[in-house]
Amino acid sequence: MTPQPNLSPALRDAPSPAPALGASWGRHYLMCPPDYFDVVYSINPWMSTAVPVDRRRAGSQWELLVATLEDAGAEVSILEPRPGLPDMVFTANAGVVVGEKFVPAAMRHPERQGERLHFEAWFSEHGHSIEALEVGAVQEGAGDALPFGGTLVAGYRTRSSVEAYAELSRRLGTPTVAIELSDPRYYHLDLSFCPLDGKRAMVVPSAWTEEGRSLVSALVPEPLVLRPEEAAAFCANSVVIGQTVTMPACSSRVKRRLESWGYEPVVVDVSEFLKAGGGVRCLTLALDVSPETFDEAPGSAAGRLTASVGALGGDPAAPEPEASGLPAADPAIALADRYGARNYASLPVVIARAEGAWVYDRDGRAYLDALAGYSALNFGHRHPALVAAAKQQLDQVTLTSRAFHNDQLGPFCRELTELCGKERVVPMNTGAEAVETALKAARKWGYEVKGVPPERATVVVCEGNFHGRTITIVSFSDDPAAREGFGPYTPGFRRVPYGDVDALRAAFDDDVVAFLVEPIQGEAGVVLPPEGYLRAARKLCDEHGILMIADEIQSGLARTGRTFACDHEDAEPDMYVLGKALGGGIVPLSAVVADEEILGVFRPGDHGSTFGGNPLACAVGREVIRLLSTGEYQERATRLGDGFRLALAGSDLPGVKEVRGKGLWIGVELHADGPSARSVCERLVGEGVLSKDTHETTFRLAPPLVVEQEDLDFALHAVRRVLGADSGSGALKRQSAATTDALLVTTPTPTATT
Ligand SMILES: Cc1ncc(COP(=O)(O)O)c(C=O)c1O
Repeated sequence: MTPQPNLSPALRDAPSPAPALGASWGRHYLMCPPDYFDVVYSINPWMSTAVPVDRRRAGSQWELLVATLEDAGAEVSILEPRPGLPDMVFTANAGVVVGEKFVPAAMRHPERQGERLHFEAWFSEHGHSIEALEVGAVQEGAGDALPFGGTLVAGYRTRSSVEAYAELSRRLGTPTVAIELSDPRYYHLDLSFCPLDGKRAMVVPSAWTEEGRSLVSALVPEPLVLRPEEAAAFCANSVVIGQTVTMPACSSRVKRRLESWGYEPVVVDVSEFLKAGGGVRCLTLALDVSPETFDEAPGSAAGRLTASVGALGGDPAAPEPEASGLPAADPAIALADRYGARNYASLPVVIARAEGAWVYDRDGRAYLDALAGYSALNFGHRHPALVAAAKQQLDQVTLTSRAFHNDQLGPFCRELTELCGKERVVPMNTGAEAVETALKAARKWGYEVKGVPPERATVVVCEGNFHGRTITIVSFSDDPAAREGFGPYTPGFRRVPYGDVDALRAAFDDDVVAFLVEPIQGEAGVVLPPEGYLRAARKLCDEHGILMIADEIQSGLARTGRTFACDHEDAEPDMYVLGKALGGGIVPLSAVVADEEILGVFRPGDHGSTFGGNPLACAVGREVIRLLSTGEYQERATRLGDGFRLALAGSDLPGVKEVRGKGLWIGVELHADGPSARSVCERLVGEGVLSKDTHETTFRLAPPLVVEQEDLDFALHAVRRVLGADSGSGALKRQSAATTDALLVTTPTPTATT
């Protein structure tokens, strides 16, 4: 056994006190006396061979430090120093310890590489398994890998390389967040980041890249930001034992702040070691970081982040982690998670670029967009004609408000009425606004034209509907997730089963002013009504003097193979409600289109929108109408959609109950006892296909209409692989997310679907 000279023999055999709960720190430390400490080379900006080290002084500073740490409740194990290895005193760089595993550091500079042998020997003698990183990795130990809030926070670039962390993380079983260090003075993370407990840390944001800053700010709910002079005095290079913070320096400001949090700052003089760019933390290596540290704090920011660094590189030969194939978390996810309200559970993909039917994340992984913004991207991402129209308009005028006219609104309205075969348009922005507009028009029409008694106007809607998120719209939804908690609800609606003509007939009376219907229910899971339903509804509405309002926000504008889904039954509604694709995937643009008899009820002052009809949106909308007028997209939707649906249905996919849809709008319904639709979507991400679940058992495939046959083949293979119908590699033509390893967990939260 390696001798343990000097100091506190009694403590060497003493049992370890329990680690402080909630703290990121241990109580058992490995330290190495400075018998051979010196500055004989210069591998960081603090080191100067011209400044002599007083080794005697260094010795007494070190002994005082050990005594201070022990006083705070630490146990200190001693490692024998070796001649010729002056920096061995900085044991934080020995490696990373989690439980019984020790990953020896792979130092960047040859001057320090000789230390490894001795550290490894000590750890194997003390019962640790040695988990050496791949040859070529650079990882400089615990100084660059600090547990915080259930995550290993890892510094890279100035010393450690980011590639090392995928493997480190895998070997130690730690979720890891990698922070890019940009200031060479703070070359290890422990010079700019000092965890205090699961929520608080002393931080030096100027030491990190912008992205690193964002990541840490997402991770640390309560940061103590050090000033430049505090950072330069190595305040962050401290050790926390219970409530005692042992520091190389502390300003009165930092002291007050630490005390207000219940900590006791204790300053020790380590000035001889500062000559080599090392402080208190650098002189210690925590030996009792338990693996459970990384299961902690599921509700904390870090717990939710569950980042993996697998996609950053790593050992391609290492076994695939047990996972659903999701790529590693991007820092942007942590930020959205930290600062955004939690009304979505987005799949963990951060799209940074897109073209046509494909999107790309920040690492350049390609994904086929099989959701197309819930049909807002019918013409694909950045369609050249649409982008050109937008750019041209950006150079002219973008917003006027309706207080004035603009030169795009009139032409847009005329062209849209022509497309719809109607007389007037109310331009709005979002789909929900357009639905509200249609409801207002219908009620007013009911009172002014139909003669319904005041306050009695009733609108019939369908079970399973989805028309948006306003209070009125959720009032007539039967989806508890959309509705619950948002009452009191708007009256005046009557719900009937979707697709049931008799129920519709029974619901119609003299107070009914309108029937609001989705020709195909998208959010319900691409649910088609029985053949003839829309035609029958049209007839019933005519018989009762009731307006038929078709919400074609998702089904319209070529998605189903016709300009409007109602066209399939020649059931022309009285009002079209349009949105999504009308804005070309560039701007929000929605509209209600109907005849004068209906929209004539609006008079100046009774309805409007600041952005509705703005010239930029109208210019894009005009180009959308032009694209639709060629019929090309309707034809593609029919041809490609029919083929894709048939191929899916004929694939004999395990777990699939039904494949249904129209045009390029497909719902795949899974058996309730099989994998959830969410898990299928997660696995599809790993295969390079983005799709979206709805209602637990259905996922949708609705790529942009510019998609190519080979893209659909790609999607088909991906679906087959995920559902277990295909074990081969498929015709993977592009570099897809399927090529990445890694993954972690996502939180299954009930969420907004659109
Ligand atoms: C049929 C239908 N109506 C209305 C909406 C609401 O549109 P928005 O989200 O733009 O308000 C949606 C959105 O998915 C929809 O599918």
